[in-house]
Amino acid sequence: MAAAYAQLMPIPDGLIAIGAATADFERLADLADLPVGSMLRVTRGDLDVLLVNTEGGICAIDDRCPHMSAPLSLGTLEGCVVACPLHKGKFNLCDGNVVQFPTTGGLDADGVSHAPWTPADSAPKPEPTDLKAMARAATRVRRLRYYPVRVVNGHIEVRIPR
Ligand code: FES
Repeated sequence: MAAAYAQLMPIPDGLIAIGAATADFERLADLADLPVGSMLRVTRGDLDVLLVNTEGGICAIDDRCPHMSAPLSLGTLEGCVVACPLHKGKFNLCDGNVVQFPTTGGLDADGVSHAPWTPADSAPKPEPTDLKAMARAATRVRRLRYYPVRVVNGHIEVRIPR
């Protein structure tokens, strides 16, 4: 039987997770458990890793939305774009950038301010005007961070910092 082919996604420049470059590889899953178009959450210690097999290859990121840390594994995947289950933020796994800013608004990775917005299929909600509004406006949505991945004998291995 031919070995399953696994394409790996290159990590975008400057977006490797802190400590991951020199960490040891750990086996997190079998390749057979991550077909193209799927996501898988794997926990090691207090780190929740999201394995994703996209049209651009397999990657590993934190299973935490870069907005307010919701688990992206509960979101949806379309091509290379993962959508967060909260606040409708969307993120491109192929380059680490925001595709759609969260409804709450806030700061992007470059410090540019984005206003809150209402999805077309939702009724407008009153926006907070107090400390909560200040916190939303000052919340920075970083680019995604990645862990190096390799596939060995059908197993997905990831460099996990300890
Ligand atoms: S926590 Fe993901 S968009 Fe807000």
